[in-house]
Amino acid sequence: MRVGILTVSDRASRGEYQDLAGPLIADIVRAALQADVAQVAVVPDEQDQIAAVLRRWCDEADLDLVLTTGGTGFAPRDVTPEATRAVIQREAPGLAEAMRAASLRVTPHAMLSRAVAGIRGRTLIVNLPGSPKAVKENLETILPALPHAIELLREVQGANQRHHHPSEGGEQPAR
Ligand code: MTE
Repeated sequence: MRVGILTVSDRASRGEYQDLAGPLIADIVRAALQADVAQVAVVPDEQDQIAAVLRRWCDEADLDLVLTTGGTGFAPRDVTPEATRAVIQREAPGLAEAMRAASLRVTPHAMLSRAVAGIRGRTLIVNLPGSPKAVKENLETILPALPHAIELLREVQGANQRHHHPSEGGEQPAR
């Protein structure tokens, strides 16, 4: 699985703040999905710049999955969901719904996440929040569904026969 990780943060892009969330995502996807982290970047909270990286990575970098971190809240400069919506061709609302539902058990602030998930070509894009704690909690919620999501996007032979629940056997149970 080839993964791109895009950190969206004005302060991190100016070097005023060390990006901790991006490297954390890399560690988690390498350990849990044996992912190849093929692209990483840090951009400011500018819709056009975010969208340009997402388009380039989906159309030219042959990535299966792009995870963004940051810019999903209510602050005026939080525009990651708008940039994502501008580039996706099909929405994948279940991923964002699952993350908000699971996060609500941790904090009522989960209601303030405007995160979007969707598909451009054969690449799945998922917005994650900005803080490392929130990244870990949200990513762990969707990890069990990602291998099958990527199989379906790639039209891997047999993927349609594997629609059973992970707990039915064969695959790792959902955490
Ligand atoms: N989800 C989990 N699991 N844990 C958290 O601490 N923080 C929330 C929310 N989702 C949080 C969470 C907060 S405080 C905000 S404002 C939104 O994610 C958006 O975060 P962002 O603006 O950093 O993208």
